[in-house]
Amino acid sequence: MTNWKELDQNARDWIMEAGKKIRDSFQDELNIKTKSNRNDLVTNMDEATERYFIEKIRSTYKDHHIMGEEGFGDELSELSGVTWIIDPIDGTMNFVHQQRNFAISIGVYDGKQGVLGYIYDVVHDELYHAEKGRGAYMNDQKLPVLNEVAVEDSVIALNAQWMTTNKRIDPEVLAPLVQKVRGTRSYGSAAIEMAYIASGRLDAYISMRLAPWDFAAGKILIEEVGGVVTDLEGNELNPLNKSSLFVGKPGLHGKILNNYLKN
Ligand code: IPD
Ligand code: CA
Ligand code: CA
Repeated sequence: MTNWKELDQNARDWIMEAGKKIRDSFQDELNIKTKSNRNDLVTNMDEATERYFIEKIRSTYKDHHIMGEEGFGDELSELSGVTWIIDPIDGTMNFVHQQRNFAISIGVYDGKQGVLGYIYDVVHDELYHAEKGRGAYMNDQKLPVLNEVAVEDSVIALNAQWMTTNKRIDPEVLAPLVQKVRGTRSYGSAAIEMAYIASGRLDAYISMRLAPWDFAAGKILIEEVGGVVTDLEGNELNPLNKSSLFVGKPGLHGKILNNYLKN
């Protein structure tokens, strides 16, 4: 039987420690490499942070599984038992260019069910965390359940690339929505964008292509405050697969999905 209380404490201790290591690294020179293209960055700190979590998890929980963005975890074809889904630094481009607006994001799943979610904004020292059925918090402050908002009063997060020619969506689809909403924002970290919806700073977030480690924690957080998390067609996400992502406050999610995204 999993001792979830103890696991929660361990996860928080490790996240705070990893965050400190990242802050301390700001003085050091970064080793920056590219992955799939010249804008897909990875640094020695992404890799060191993932390795740090894997070492802690493996020495404490021998039978747990790990899915990590940088590939030091397991190759998983299914979710069974306890699985840690880790993005050591979400928003690496921000980490490199700004030294802010990035987060450690960790979701802990029991089979296919998300149980614990953590998004740690390392520079602002804001730990967003949630436990399935027990609510969501920002540090020690409980986050209230989200209220409905009209499309014209909403602020939505969206990367400007989806408004230009791209291979995932016709930019014409999003134009009427962008015209209707109060404003758009782009923070460059899916985890922070989801944490901001959970805490009411944003109302919705659209991305055309994300990986499980980008949304594993955010999904748990958002659902605990009554928000809705699906892909762009309104389907449930599979925590093992890459997909589009559409997150919204209750009510708003359905209105945008039916009136702007479904053709
Ligand atoms: C990226 C960020 C970014 C999103 C990208 C992700 P990374 O994660 O979440 O906001 O637009 O699709 O890959 O690479 O910085 O961990
Ligand atoms: Ca990421
Ligand atoms: Ca990352």
